[in-house]
Amino acid sequence: MHVHKAEKIWIAFGVAMLAVFLATITTAAVVEGFVPPSHIQSIDPAKVAQTPPFDKPGLHKVADGVYEAYYVGHIFAFEPQHLTIPVGAKVTFFVTSTDVVHGFSIPETGVNTMVEPGWVSTVSHVFAKRGTYLLVCNEYCGIAHQTMAGSVDVK
Ligand code: CUA
Repeated sequence: MHVHKAEKIWIAFGVAMLAVFLATITTAAVVEGFVPPSHIQSIDPAKVAQTPPFDKPGLHKVADGVYEAYYVGHIFAFEPQHLTIPVGAKVTFFVTSTDVVHGFSIPETGVNTMVEPGWVSTVSHVFAKRGTYLLVCNEYCGIAHQTMAGSVDVK
């Protein structure tokens, strides 16, 4: 089979780029110990209920208009299930799981993160509009995954 010289160059270029990308990812993961950027805090999933501030899930005021919300996900609920936030507040969500991988999504806000046991996922949002926002698990986590939901009231 005859392969044109230009085709050979492109095949070599493609293979070389693949090797460069794989070497970069492997070096970052193994040598540098990189993990996804939101997963910078680790936690013992068996001791979440005893680990502050996850021993008191809910909204914690940091400063005027600035809050931190601590959430625990487990099959098949979030703690807290309902949260009330003052309008205009900047809220940073810290979310962890005690069992399996869950999702943490508040549609229409951009709040959307995976929740993994052993890690604390972090995502921030400014709630500028009043209303009741749905909170859903958007990672399949078991037989009653579709019931894993809650709400965020912005008043
Ligand atoms: Cu938790 Cu789906």
